[in-house]
Amino acid sequence: MPTIISIGSGKGGVGKSVISTNIAYLLGQSGYSVTLIDMDSGGADLHILMGLFKPKYSLTDFIDKKAASLEQIAEQLSGFAGIRLIAGTGDSLHTANMPAATRAKVLRHIRLIESDIVIIDVGAGTHFNTLDFFLAADIHLCVTTGDPTAILDLYRFVKLAVIRKGLSSFLSYDDVSQLIRKTDIKDIDELLELAAQYGDEKPQAIEQSIREFNPAIIFNQVSKSSTDRFSRLQTLMRTYLRVSNLELLGEIPEDQELRLSVAKYQPVTSLSPSANAAQALRSICKQLSNQIEQQPKSSRHMT
Ligand SMILES: Nc1ncnc2c1ncn2[C@@H]1O[C@H](COP(=O)(O)OP(=O)(O)O)[C@@H](O)[C@H]1O
Ligand SMILES: [Mg+2]
Repeated sequence: MPTIISIGSGKGGVGKSVISTNIAYLLGQSGYSVTLIDMDSGGADLHILMGLFKPKYSLTDFIDKKAASLEQIAEQLSGFAGIRLIAGTGDSLHTANMPAATRAKVLRHIRLIESDIVIIDVGAGTHFNTLDFFLAADIHLCVTTGDPTAILDLYRFVKLAVIRKGLSSFLSYDDVSQLIRKTDIKDIDELLELAAQYGDEKPQAIEQSIREFNPAIIFNQVSKSSTDRFSRLQTLMRTYLRVSNLELLGEIPEDQELRLSVAKYQPVTSLSPSANAAQALRSICKQLSNQIEQQPKSSRHMT
């Protein structure tokens, strides 16, 4: 079974796609086989960033049952040995509005992918499918810029992920979705009160599920150190969401070389390895490799 890494954010345009492709390239360079999956319903663009202009297949082929497995639609990227891409649908009707049964089937097939690593770019926002694909991973990466609105949106994204994960520990998929639709849950205390209505032991189940959730944050497009911003975010998440294991995985500077690499349809780590952004991405990948190696293979779970 592959180690699954998901990349999410509250806001669009913060660098998820660029980071996904660079991490895929670097992990490929380290000898891992990697499959990238573009789950961004609104902005499927990983293929462009890797210089593939006309993917042969997309997720739509699997969702529409034209392909029997995700393996069949994973396309080897030319010039990037060991890296395959499952291109996005580019059609929000297909991914964002995926019915629960289809979502479960996609998740099941992700686990069957024959690569060491699967990287899922889940796109931005708090749609249920986005949250579910994010939560399904073994390693959760969250991207934000230093912009206060991006940080606030990331906080909201993590809050909803925590609520969804917590409730899923004892409610069915449909019940969780219904409850979240009709109840505005402000913070974890409210969530625990709500859970107690389902049984005395339910709040404990939620607290346990939160303890197992260790999202790692990447600050992107920064011009100065993000340590202070990260500390504030950490305090907020600890206080209101009880997420105590938030980690700062790294910071990537705003870098013109990265923009140029996007214009040349290549990861900056491949095109300009000495660029500041490329160096930051390599340091992030080094830490990520440690996390990958620490994954307990037997205890991996999917929602
Ligand atoms: N570190 C950076 N330095 C300079 N430009 C960046 C950086 N990160 C992202 N960008 C720019 O922002 C654009 C949007 O990034 P992208 O990865 O597509 O965001 P998302 O996937 O989160 O919507 C990129 O095309 C690139 O031009
Ligand atoms: Mg994107």
